[in-house]
Amino acid sequence: METSHSHATVLVVDLGAQYAQLIARRVREAHVYSEIVPHGLGAAEIAEMSPAGIILSGGPKSVHVEGAPTVDPAIFELGIPVLGICYGAQLVAQQLGGVVDRSGRGEYGRTSMIRKGHSDLFDDESPFEQPVWMSHFDAITEAPGGFVVTGSTPDAPVAVLENFDRRIYGVQFHPEVVHTPHGQRLIERFVRNVCNLPGDWNTADIIDESVAAIRSQVGTRRAICGLSGGVDSAVAAALVHKAIGSQLTCVFVDTGLMRHGEGEQVVETFRRTQGIELVHERSAAEFFDALSGVVDPEDKRKAIGEKFIRIFERASGGITDAKFLVQGTLYPDVIESGTSEAAKIKSHHNVGGLPDDMEFELVEPLRSLFKDEVRAVGSQLGLPDEIVWRQPFPGPGLGVRILGEVTPEKVAILQHADLIVREELAVAGLERNIWQAFAVLADIRSVGVMGDERTYERPIIVRAVTSEDAMTADWARLPHDVLAAISSRIINEVDGINRVVYDITSKPPGTIEWE
Ligand code: XMP
Repeated sequence: METSHSHATVLVVDLGAQYAQLIARRVREAHVYSEIVPHGLGAAEIAEMSPAGIILSGGPKSVHVEGAPTVDPAIFELGIPVLGICYGAQLVAQQLGGVVDRSGRGEYGRTSMIRKGHSDLFDDESPFEQPVWMSHFDAITEAPGGFVVTGSTPDAPVAVLENFDRRIYGVQFHPEVVHTPHGQRLIERFVRNVCNLPGDWNTADIIDESVAAIRSQVGTRRAICGLSGGVDSAVAAALVHKAIGSQLTCVFVDTGLMRHGEGEQVVETFRRTQGIELVHERSAAEFFDALSGVVDPEDKRKAIGEKFIRIFERASGGITDAKFLVQGTLYPDVIESGTSEAAKIKSHHNVGGLPDDMEFELVEPLRSLFKDEVRAVGSQLGLPDEIVWRQPFPGPGLGVRILGEVTPEKVAILQHADLIVREELAVAGLERNIWQAFAVLADIRSVGVMGDERTYERPIIVRAVTSEDAMTADWARLPHDVLAAISSRIINEVDGINRVVYDITSKPPGTIEWE
């Protein structure tokens, strides 16, 4: 196994869902390249990757439970610095001869840690007493021989343990979460001072290395890229264009189900600003045909997905000598597809996705990047903020935000209402605090009164959520004056709407989209 990078790398060993990704992101924020590896890797395989440091992540289990994830103890003999976090710290203690006790009462949430004596992990300015975030049941009660205890909390006598000679460390708290305010400094200290890395990994490096890798993969041949208007496919296309210029053709299947002005913006950005060769398939009429009479959400998704693939094939079929297909796959997709298989709740369709039976070699320049890094690369490549900071948008577009049959008239109504939602959030300066905010058009009618006249029209549902990863979400606590502005503008400006409601359902039990 090799790391996908020529840069000095800190490996994060994944001992449980969710924890490892955030640690890897924090290491990268310290300008050190980081990759996640499964905990089953043997020491020899890890040594082959020549990491500059190893971090053992937290995990949901107890080290005492049968079948709990563990690491090959020989990794402690490699001479590579190791930092164990939470469950990882308990593994360090347990495997090297300390005691992990399960009789305590656990410690959850914010607590206060007191430092003791010299430490490799805290710098001189790090406060003697500092808040840390805990989430553990078992506690290390005795550090192994050769370790000194450099931090304790009321319920974790061994909150920090350090072996200066062997450069092996453990912290019971979570330095990677924002609730541990000095945590990022600790991670930086580990990767910079203990692992001795200069911290020189940056966006310009990412671009240079990707450009070189794309050139060597594609050579003088041709590639195509499906654009959706979303940030991932946009940045992937811009990066590949920088590498191979006119050997790239982008295909934009314009479904007519995008938000107001988005189709034009894709064309403007790629064809005119970036100078990328773009095939623009104006296919709204075909999509409306396919959606005529379709009301069931899954049937709609299927109809849109199938139509999309056929049109993409037709458009890309003209580019007969293309051997490569560019995909905006991100690092979290790569990690997740290797681990868990989530239950299917909705059949997701990615516009710009790969038809199963097409024979292309994939070019995936974002495979090792997190979303925030993709955004930084996009900005550096000159993509506009509207694309770089675009919120996630479902492949089937407004098709799954119009309940009931999708018609051109309903799309126009929804585009207008949705634009108002986004404009008002922008005015309030809230767009970047919110994961997604949009309008949904319901297929019911209610009675109202406007200018002494009775009305009997449809409502708009406003949905705004906060989230880290779309797996769970909470409804956004938007200020009432923002909601009031959205409501009054929609009623006054959008024909056919006489009521605005706000969705206050979290996920679960709701989903983010309505269909
Ligand atoms: P739900 O509605 O399942 O959505 O809570 C989770 C996230 O996924 C987006 N979404 C999709 N994205 N193709 C996509 O690329 C799809 O078919 C699709 N359906 C939902 C949704 O906007 C949210 O961010």
